[in-house]
Amino acid sequence: MGFASFRTIVRDAFEHGYAVGHININNLEFVQAIVDAAEAEEAPVILGVSEGAIKYMGLDYTVALARTAAERAKVPVMLHLDHGSSFEWVVRAVRAGFSSVMIDGSHLPLEENIRLTQRVVELCHPLGIDVEGELGRIGGTDDDLTVDERLATLARPEDAEKFVSSTGVDALAAAIGSAHGRYKGRPQLDFDRLVAIRRATNTPLVLHGGSGIPDEDVVRAISLGIAKVNINTENQEAFTATVRALLQKNPDVYDPRKYLAPARDAIKETVRAKLRLLGSSHRVLTSV
Ligand code: 13P
Repeated sequence: MGFASFRTIVRDAFEHGYAVGHININNLEFVQAIVDAAEAEEAPVILGVSEGAIKYMGLDYTVALARTAAERAKVPVMLHLDHGSSFEWVVRAVRAGFSSVMIDGSHLPLEENIRLTQRVVELCHPLGIDVEGELGRIGGTDDDLTVDERLATLARPEDAEKFVSSTGVDALAAAIGSAHGRYKGRPQLDFDRLVAIRRATNTPLVLHGGSGIPDEDVVRAISLGIAKVNINTENQEAFTATVRALLQKNPDVYDPRKYLAPARDAIKETVRAKLRLLGSSHRVLTSV
């Protein structure tokens, strides 16, 4: 298959009370592990790519890797720009062949965020490319993007209603208290806010910073309208811990495949567990 339809799959998740995994890719092994995990779980999966990961892998390599994985896969696979920081980045991703994009105008005043997101939707929708927007500011560190905790703000339901109706985004990352990277204490998700935003928008909502949120909170958030959950840090941790342990135990190893293959196996397991948690196992639609 080629890339699947983001809008169709994320909407299905929203309507049926599960969430699609947006799993960030960092290299070849991540792509292979994530798609293997999705196949093992018979789950759709979104390969999320940050601008930092694109700079590391190269735009053309990124698309080629993801496209090869999608063509071979027996489950729907999508390639999604994570936290697109400008209209120009979106154009680059669209030209290169991404199947959906996120435009992150959350650092802008509301009206400017709306205008930027509108421009992106006007570019993307006629091309069949779906768009995620962001409202409120999600704190923490996501590759090149760091938002100091003091600058993080939660999304307001009335702004969310205006944002969604003015832009026509297909999914909304509304800040409800999660953060990218490692949490210092237990994350405090604002579930009442989530309920109000869902009521105000009736649009699939996205939970960023999905690593380190207790399972029961993830499940609760999904029951309240989260239809896409973004995960990166916990796979990076699993990957690196495996490499570190293996090299410590076997200091003479010099063939990268000897530590990259076990690291790939490790993320396959963390991704499988996450896809099960999201309720997306055995959710492959035949029409996408
Ligand atoms: P984590 O790295 O905290 O899992 O968050 C990933 C993310 O939200 C990517 O947009």
